[in-house]
Amino acid sequence: MSTKIQRHEFLKSLGFKGASLLAVYCGAASLSSCENESVGPASAIDFTLDLSNAAYSVLNTVGKYVIYNQVVVARVSSTSFAAVTQICSHEGRAQVIFNGTNFFCTAHGATFSMTGAPTSAVTNKAIASYKTALSGTTLRVYA
Ligand code: FES
Repeated sequence: MSTKIQRHEFLKSLGFKGASLLAVYCGAASLSSCENESVGPASAIDFTLDLSNAAYSVLNTVGKYVIYNQVVVARVSSTSFAAVTQICSHEGRAQVIFNGTNFFCTAHGATFSMTGAPTSAVTNKAIASYKTALSGTTLRVYA
């Protein structure tokens, strides 16, 4: 069993999983290994936000966004949403937001499309994007 597997099993045994497990790897390993691996939470993203809840009701307004579990969830039109990782593909900073038009990294200005494709000269690497589905006031975000 490799050291990495053992560490993974050990962290899992402590209850770490998903994004928090990735964060532990990033903190423990060299930064370059983080940049070369998948950009954003590695495990399956699947959560719901209740848009009738005051914490998430901004998503009823086009152009607004919330960040949940390191995922940027944006209301991009009257009928649609988009979701991408908060972790930028440029230098791995957790600084991606939605600026009303694009996903935008406040660190060095990289921009990304609704599907996470790079749209600036800052980086040519995409960021992970997620599916969204609205049912009533419940918005599901999933991989
Ligand atoms: S880390 Fe996002 S633009 Fe540099």
